[in-house]
Amino acid sequence: MSVSSIFRMPNVLLTGTGSVQQVGVQAVKLGARKVLVITDKVLNQTGLVKQVTDPLEAENIQVDIIDEVVPEPPFENLEQIARGIRDQGYDVFVGIGGGSALDVTKALAIMMTNPGDVRELVGIEKVRNKGIPFILIPTTAGTGSEVTYNAIFTDIRDNVKKGIVSPYLLPDVAIVDAALTVSVPPAVTAATGMDALVHAVESYTAQRASELTDGIALHAIQLISRSIRTAVYNGKNIQAREDMAMGSLMAGISLGNAGVGAVHALAYPLGGKFKVPHGVANSLLLPYVMKYNVLANLEKFAQVAKALGENTEGLSLRDAAETAVHALARLSRDVGIPSTLRDVGVTEDDIPALAEEASKIDRLLNNNPRWLTVKEIEAIYRDAYEGQ
Ligand SMILES: [Fe+2]
Repeated sequence: MSVSSIFRMPNVLLTGTGSVQQVGVQAVKLGARKVLVITDKVLNQTGLVKQVTDPLEAENIQVDIIDEVVPEPPFENLEQIARGIRDQGYDVFVGIGGGSALDVTKALAIMMTNPGDVRELVGIEKVRNKGIPFILIPTTAGTGSEVTYNAIFTDIRDNVKKGIVSPYLLPDVAIVDAALTVSVPPAVTAATGMDALVHAVESYTAQRASELTDGIALHAIQLISRSIRTAVYNGKNIQAREDMAMGSLMAGISLGNAGVGAVHALAYPLGGKFKVPHGVANSLLLPYVMKYNVLANLEKFAQVAKALGENTEGLSLRDAAETAVHALARLSRDVGIPSTLRDVGVTEDDIPALAEEASKIDRLLNNNPRWLTVKEIEAIYRDAYEGQ
């Protein structure tokens, strides 16, 4: 491979059912005496937070909980939490929850050592100082936030999502314990699980993909595709939850290093005006974008079909690649995701504006296997509007 690439991971990665019990020991290794657990109100009312605070207290660590994280967190949410905790002497943060709680924890850790307006940290590698140590514990299988080095927030001034990208956003420790995901309801399991599958497929076929990310992404596709239906419809099945937790973790590692592409670029505008959840928008658009992308790398899309468990023996490369598109469309329908833009309230008249907005997300479009202009983006949206 001629292009150089960089591969980053959290310093320590703990996996396996029951691994959350290690959080106290890990915090001690980071020098913790006073820890702040960061989460949201819904999660704080379940017993999950106690599974984190008990092992911390067993190590004689003083523990406080803040549950003020809101969904799609705006910068104001960060600033408000930061004001209350800055002078409290916390030496380690522990974030537990979905993508929002983890992203807020990541940003708060660096805000403690980089004073000033947090908006100045937006962009690529604008963060000067390493933050205080932090541990991330996801309770959904999907976002991969525990292993990526970006954090996304809403700027309510222009209603645009903005990202801080810095290696300092990688946690000192990530703990991925499938037992924490068992009570996630079916619709959220479907949307977050399909988001993870999109991370795997998009990063595997991305321009920035490498040998390292390829192996990880392919295995993620296998794990998620074989278990997502069971995890959605029989959530108590721990084997399925373990596959989803590991699959989404691996998809996150691949996404963190190889990036994603046009599916995410076309999905983002649906979140703004139409409030389509991120995972639903990605899953809905995946088959339509893939249908367009397939020709750019038949070999890789044929491998995706195999990883999805499709029988491609005796098929031409072209047909094998096409099989991946149909298999993913069926999977998405099976877990209850709407299959056309019509189903999520988009009208034909909305399409040009959506295409215009998506065409500005160069960071993702430049990483897509096939080149797109606003014209092609509009055609893909029209395809997704009409349905297959
Ligand atoms: Fe995503």
